[in-house]
Amino acid sequence: MSILLTGGSGKTATRVAALLAEDRKPFLLGSRQGSDAVSNGYPTVKFDMSDESTWTKPFESTHIKAVYMMEPRISQPWVPMNKFVDFAKNQGVNRFVLCAGTSATIGKDGMGRVWEHLIKSDVEYCVLRPSWFMENLLEPGLAFTIGKLNKIFTAAQDGKIPFISADDIAEVAYHALADEKSYNCDLRILGPENLTYDQIAETLSKVLGRKIEHVKLDEASRIDGLVQAGLSDYFARFLTNLEVLASQDFEKGTSDVVKRVTGHSPQSFEKFAEDNKAVWSSN
Ligand SMILES: NC(=O)c1ccc[n+]([C@@H]2O[C@H](COP(=O)([O-])OP(=O)(O)OC[C@H]3O[C@@H](n4cnc5c(N)ncnc54)[C@H](OP(=O)(O)O)[C@@H]3O)[C@@H](O)[C@H]2O)c1
Repeated sequence: MSILLTGGSGKTATRVAALLAEDRKPFLLGSRQGSDAVSNGYPTVKFDMSDESTWTKPFESTHIKAVYMMEPRISQPWVPMNKFVDFAKNQGVNRFVLCAGTSATIGKDGMGRVWEHLIKSDVEYCVLRPSWFMENLLEPGLAFTIGKLNKIFTAAQDGKIPFISADDIAEVAYHALADEKSYNCDLRILGPENLTYDQIAETLSKVLGRKIEHVKLDEASRIDGLVQAGLSDYFARFLTNLEVLASQDFEKGTSDVVKRVTGHSPQSFEKFAEDNKAVWSSN
């Protein structure tokens, strides 16, 4: 009995895989990149939510009892995702853990449609609703602007965000997938502090020993900057819209989910910054 982790090269699935491996629980990673997705020998098959011909492969060699899923970046992602839920249920899967986000609401377009389908399908489920990942600051774009320009550009203004580590999200996902009892609810996974980007920049300045500045952009300038940096117009608008929402404190909140599910408090941003400071080195 194995667990299929889709989004196999992503920030959370790789961490869930490490936890399952440590616990000697069988799992299979599914990634659009197939076995090239990981370099550490974890079992990996080609899996693409938007390509039905790849759906059968994971089920050929092992009995899968639970699946970890996240949103593919396509229009109407819930259409193939709901179809895949039906397919996997037919193959004997009885538990689905969906990584969604703050805005997911049952029945609403987006991951809310998948959430609704899971409830209607009468399967065991859990919908993870994390806030923004601390690890976003390690992605090439932000690693560059912090490392080389000493700046963070956003349209988030003074909005407060309970940044959360992907390590904590993965640990909650691990429990939702592998615990004997299914949660059958959504879990808001939030970090320990509501932080503005000014405060993020302040902590980075302290940890790195040089001034990091948060540059507050209006919506149009932010979209422009992201497009100039190479993002598609669609994705630039998508990201900017999330930041504008955050500026209105859409992300702000508190939650005891990490402590309740894992037994420990979520990691602080200061510790995350200390652990990863080499990524933003200016050399
Ligand atoms: N980053 C955040 O701050 C944040 C906040 C709240 C919620 N979330 C949600 O958390 C999830 C992970 O986000 P992330 O930022 O951590 O991204 P990420 O590390 O880049 O992981 C996203 C993964 O999605 C998978 N994916 C994309 N298209 C796919 C497809 N057609 N079929 C199957 N898998 C596909 C990719 O897996 P492969 O390339 O291996 O196939 C990719 O690794 C997303 O659903 C996101 O909406 C993120």
